[in-house]
Formats: sequence, C-alpha cells, structure tokens
Amino acid sequence: MPTIPTSDADLYTEQARINPYQIYAELRDLGPVVYLSRYDLYALPRYDEVRAALMDWRTFSSARSVFVDPVMNAQLEGITLCSDPPEHTAMRSVLGRPLRQDRMREVTPRIEAEADRVVAELVERGRFEVVSELAEHLPMTVVSDLVGLPDHARAKMLEWAAAIWDTQGPADDRAAAAMPAVEEFLAFAANDAVPGKIDPDGWAAHLYQAADRGEIPRDKCPMMMLDYVTPSLDTTILAITNAVALFAENPDQWDLLRKDRSLIPHAINESLRLESPVPQFSRVLTEDHEIGGTPLAAGSRVALLFGSANRDERHYPDPTRFDITRRPADHLAFGRGEHVCVGMHLARLEIGVLLERLADRVARFEIEESRPVINNGLRGLEYLRVAVDATPASDPNAAATGATDGAAGPTR
Ligand code: HEM
Repeated sequence: MPTIPTSDADLYTEQARINPYQIYAELRDLGPVVYLSRYDLYALPRYDEVRAALMDWRTFSSARSVFVDPVMNAQLEGITLCSDPPEHTAMRSVLGRPLRQDRMREVTPRIEAEADRVVAELVERGRFEVVSELAEHLPMTVVSDLVGLPDHARAKMLEWAAAIWDTQGPADDRAAAAMPAVEEFLAFAANDAVPGKIDPDGWAAHLYQAADRGEIPRDKCPMMMLDYVTPSLDTTILAITNAVALFAENPDQWDLLRKDRSLIPHAINESLRLESPVPQFSRVLTEDHEIGGTPLAAGSRVALLFGSANRDERHYPDPTRFDITRRPADHLAFGRGEHVCVGMHLARLEIGVLLERLADRVARFEIEESRPVINNGLRGLEYLRVAVDATPASDPNAAATGATDGAAGPTR
C-alpha cells in the first residue's frame, strides 16, 4: 500500500501568502495527495484530484465547513458554503436567484455606464491606483446597492469581508487580529441588515421574503446576507487587479485583446487560472476513500488547492505563461460542482465590462508600484499604481506600434 508523502511546508507564512507557487510545485511533485503535518490536513495539489473532489460532494462534504481552523469551522457549519444537499440546495436556490446568468441583463446597463465613466476619468489622468480607484468601484457601488444594505455599512464592508477571509486559515495572529471586525460584521448581519433597515427591493430583503414564504428557515437569513457581501467584494477586486497586472506584464496579450474583443471571456478565465484570488477551500471525507491509490480515513480534512491545480503542468502545458488564446474554461478558480461560485456570472460581467472599456482607451499599462495582499484566504495585490498610455478607441491598432511598445513594468 503506498504511503502518503508528508510535507512540513507552511502555506501561512507571510512569504507563502504572497507567493505560494514554489510550495505548490513541490507539493504537486510529491504526489496526488500530501499530508501537511503542521495543520493535520491532507492537501490535493494536482488538477485531476481537486476537480474530482469538487464533483463528489457525497464523499467530500462541505457540511463540516471548508476552512482550516477547527474552532472557526464549527462556527460556520450550516451556512451556504458549509452545507451539503438538501439543506444547501434550498439556500443556494434562493440566494442564487438574482445572480443567475439570465438576470445579468438587468444589471448590465448600470455596470456598463459606471465602468465607462470611471475608466474615462482615470485614463484621462494618465495614472491611477487600480485597486481603490478602478477595481473597488463596481463591487462597492453597484453590488452594494443591489444588496440594499444601510449606507453606514458601506464604509465598513471591505474591512469586514477581508476579516472573514483572514479566518480561513489556522488560528494564527492574522486570524486573531481579524476577530473584532468579524464579530462586528456578524452583529451587523443579525441586528442591522434586517427588514425595516434594508432596501425592501434589494437582494437581502428578498432572502427574508423567501423565508416568509417558507422556502428557507428565517434564522439562515443573516448569514445568507453575508453570502452576498463576503465572497463578492475582495474576490472580484483582486480578479480585476490581477488581470490589469497581467496585461501590464504581457503587453502582447493586451494587443491581442484590443484587436479581438471576443477574447475577453478567455482572458478572464486565463487571468483567474493563473492568479486565483481564492487559492483553497477544504472538505471533510464522509467515508474512507482512496486518492491516487492511497487510502484516507473518513473524517480527514482535505484542502483543495485551486491555486495549485490551476498551475498543474499535467493539465495546462507551460502553466505559468499568460496566454489569452489558451481558453482554459475548465479552470477551478470558481470551484466546480454543487458549490461552484454562485456569483461567477456577476464577477465575469464586472471584469469583462471593465476590460472592454479599458481596451477602448488604453494602449499600454506600466506598473509603477505594487503591494501584495497578505490574507489567510485570499491572494493578489492590495495596491497597484499604473501609468497608462491612452489611445483613442478608433485606433486600437496603434497599440501595437505605440511609443511604449514592450513596456512590461516591474515583475511582481
Ligand atoms: C472573481 C471573483 C470570484 C471568485 C474567484 C470566487 C470564488 C469562489 C469559489 C472558489 C467558490 C467555491 C467554494 C467551494 O467550492 O467551497 C465560490 C463560492 C461562492 N461564491 Fe464566489 N467567487 C467570486 C465572486 C463572487 C461573487 C461576485 C459573489 C456574490 C455576489 C460570490 C458568492 C459566492 C457564494 C455565495 C459562494 C458559495 C456557493 C455555494 O456554497 O453553493 N462569489 N466562489
């Protein structure tokens, strides 16, 4: 019987949060499943096993939560992310109603108008900070309006959401520092994001209306409201920022996109594949199970390393190359199966509209300064200042011959 390779690699040091890719490569080389001795966790670093686990919720259960720390996991049991069918199915169907692909038509005009205005203003200035001035705009304005939360919550939302993500790993200093904000957020959900205080036509109010109709238990509503906030902000903000950084570093790919806008959906997939904002979630085995010929006991917690699977050389040739003609629609950055990201159509819409508007106006991005996010559940940049070389929309081919041709900016 093959034994399971063990690694004492620490995915939660500051260095590993900034750049986990060396550790991921080592884990992939060790085998299809690796025991992470520091956290009593089995990691799946390769594409095939992560995908198979995502598609098999009966064996790889979310009901005992999907984070790392046992105390945090116990507190989250029963929320949408941390439940199995049939409980999960009822919550997800209510939660997902306004996020269905066919509902995106309703929000598209507003998202397009906002994106147009913001991109025009920023490009006119010649340089801007991508995270706070570009990427945060759509999630923080349009999405917050749609959820319909009280105004005073807006200023706190990013801090609250990032704090929850910080509790996704072990109970370390980062998680401890996040706890006051997590508690404030939970109190807000229970006391302030309730009927009478929220927009009666917003997504949050619709949850309570569904509870009144008996579709979901009413006590699930506060945590389901968090499902519209916690996973929708930083993830999308990081994805937008990562895409801009990748295009700054790969100007040939930007030229391709500007010439052929039908590549935008593929560019979104490729940037999510290469720089996955959510590098992992976990599952618990409901029964003894073999992975890659190795038996694992029921009750084992298994980390699904999306960020590693998306760079698995067994699945994606030359995986570290950013290539928007690759068309990697099968990437795992949104997960797969029962829990596949319920907000992915909205996220794709936000990223796609911004790329489209940038492509109309920007010939080149040059990175002037960047800083990574250091968070136990997220990966990407928290600051990215770029200078842009503007080209009129009517002359996209100028991008290929512009004075800054080849400017890639510093590598991250
Ligand atoms: C680029 C942006 C985004 C990324 C990378 C992302 C990533 C993910 C991933 C990997 C999962 C799977 C979790 C699992 O398998 O355990 C997930 C689930 C989820 N996402 Fe997203 N997400 C994004 C945007 C959004 C947005 C905009 C929303 C809401 C408006 C959202 C709401 C959710 C919710 C509620 C779930 C849980 C679904 C379930 O358990 O059935 N996400 N997301």
